[in-house]
Amino acid sequence: MTNLEILNKFTKNTLQKMREAHTYRTMRLIESPESSHVMLHVKSEGSSCKQILLASNSYLDLANVPELKQAMAAAVLKWGTGSGGARLTTGNKTPHEELEAEIAKFKGEEAAITFNTGYMANVGTISALCGKNDFVFSDELNHASIIDGIRLSRAKCFVYKHNDMADLERVIEAAKAEFCAREKLNGENANDADFRGLIVTDAVFSMDGDIANLPELLRIAHTHDCLLMIDEAHATGVLGNTGRGLAEHYGCEHADVTVGTLSKAVACEGGFVVGKQQLIDFLRNKSRSFIFTTAMAPAVAAAACNNLKFIDSHPERVQQLQENVKFFCERLRSKGFDVPETKSAIISIVIGDEEAAMNASAELLKRGILIPAIRYPTVAKGSARLRASVMATHTREDLEQAAKEIANVFAKR
Ligand SMILES: Cc1ncc(COP(=O)(O)O)c(C=O)c1O
Repeated sequence: MTNLEILNKFTKNTLQKMREAHTYRTMRLIESPESSHVMLHVKSEGSSCKQILLASNSYLDLANVPELKQAMAAAVLKWGTGSGGARLTTGNKTPHEELEAEIAKFKGEEAAITFNTGYMANVGTISALCGKNDFVFSDELNHASIIDGIRLSRAKCFVYKHNDMADLERVIEAAKAEFCAREKLNGENANDADFRGLIVTDAVFSMDGDIANLPELLRIAHTHDCLLMIDEAHATGVLGNTGRGLAEHYGCEHADVTVGTLSKAVACEGGFVVGKQQLIDFLRNKSRSFIFTTAMAPAVAAAACNNLKFIDSHPERVQQLQENVKFFCERLRSKGFDVPETKSAIISIVIGDEEAAMNASAELLKRGILIPAIRYPTVAKGSARLRASVMATHTREDLEQAAKEIANVFAKR
């Protein structure tokens, strides 16, 4: 067999099937920095056109702020282009520790640890905390990085219905019964105190934009002696009066383990975990995606730290984002869209059919509005959607125009 024939055995059928099912992915090319308006490359015409970007995770629009760019450039000049080693060898530089101290302060927690991405933070945290004798309770709409972390841990996973607290309690009871039966089979005394369960959920669900019920999750975790972990990827810089996240939003205590990312509202790169010092010491020693990788570039750590300080000193930017979300949802509702109440910056308009969602997104592009279609496998089959995300710097005119064009595109269908 030729090399190509062997490669075909692994790839060709899959690609073919994806094309047929309209789930084959290509990348769009943006020729300007991430901001509320971008220049989109139009391949067919070899040119670019201006779009209102309603698709960014840079919710506070900090990626292109002159003073933050200058601070990052200065950090590159001071710290160079790379860290040169893992955190536990030679990679740990002053900006890494300053960043961790800043994250802990911002989140109001004892300590923080950073990872190179939020994906690595989730994978490395769950697989360090849990092993094959443990139980994980996971919301059915959790992010892929949580799912992958659970798989890697080899813990027994019970998936509960989305945001359904009664179902969560049901699966915890089922797991406890299974645990006791297993212990008995092994000739051990069935003892609830030995049961180890981790409840894990997105704080803001990335494809629907709805929010986890933290007060109720805390109650259930306490009642059943489980550890509670939340992923604040889309909550940091977005929820709560000053963007601290879900606990600030509800005015309640924090989860035991809070994961976040520096790549969305913080507009940089990296992931983090905050919590008790003991948790952070444990992860530094046990988390493989922290240990076995080169530390992020110190200049990236310095930039993330600066951006976080900027959020800390500009709560009005967070409030502007929240007002924009409210305004955009109201405009969509006024045009007949059934947009659920949300405080997050993610607003999804579910279409269903994959091809129809792709067509709607393409039609919006022609009208100068960039809102991607999200399809299987990112969301369940048949629940393809337009997923819009609002930024703090969108003007009322931007949002009004976007709502109008969405309505026009739907009217044509
Ligand atoms: C809920 C959630 N968790 C984790 C991540 C991963 O974060 P990162 O992009 O920093 O890897 C994402 C998105 O990327 C996300 O949406």
